[in-house]
Amino acid sequence: MPRLIALSCGNSAFNGLRAQTTAGLSGRIVEIGFGSGYNVPLYPPTVERVLAVEPSSTAWRMASQRIAAAPVPVEQVGLDGQSIPLEDGSCDGALCTFALCTIPDPAAALSEVRRILRPGGRFHLLEHGVAPDPRVAAFQHRVEPVQRRIADGCHLTRDPVALVGDAGFAIVDIDQRYGAWPKAWTYLTRAATVRT
Ligand SMILES: C[S@@+](CC[C@H](N)C(=O)[O-])C[C@H]1O[C@@H](n2cnc3c(N)ncnc32)[C@H](O)[C@@H]1O
Repeated sequence: MPRLIALSCGNSAFNGLRAQTTAGLSGRIVEIGFGSGYNVPLYPPTVERVLAVEPSSTAWRMASQRIAAAPVPVEQVGLDGQSIPLEDGSCDGALCTFALCTIPDPAAALSEVRRILRPGGRFHLLEHGVAPDPRVAAFQHRVEPVQRRIADGCHLTRDPVALVGDAGFAIVDIDQRYGAWPKAWTYLTRAATVRT
């Protein structure tokens, strides 16, 4: 499955959006759902250390070359975004790209991110989710059970904006739009938030 995910998430067409998502992060960063490390080359020089949380050993192996070539140190600190073995307030920022769709309990993961961020710490995300067009959303709800089975638990109908708001993050910058692929899979949200 990490190899199949790499075919979609690893598409270099996402690199511009990924770079916009990492922009503004600095210091010690936790990245949940790190995957194969596609964000690693795109972290800005202000980032001092990346603490990766990723359950898939295959994805972690696939990340090794990107990690070795990275100007920033990357270490794996945990396996589950819903339970992160880091101290309260110990990180300056956090990143999540295309993983809030997959983590079984995204509210629990965001609660963990909030706990380990210092007050005022940044949480940046890039995610697909429920579309604003009711016909597209209805289609997403219909195909979601199949999508979850064939795509490693990936949901189509989660609302990243509602999730981060409910978890206690204030949005400071947001861009939402359809991407180039079929609308049900590409209503994208790129957001920068601050831990309140
Ligand atoms: C669609 S991939 C995205 C990977 C990467 N963030 C990217 O942008 O290419 C979703 C990732 O979430 C990871 N994941 C699944 N459950 C998780 C959990 N409970 N905690 C953290 N990551 C999880 C998967 O192993 C997978 O690597």
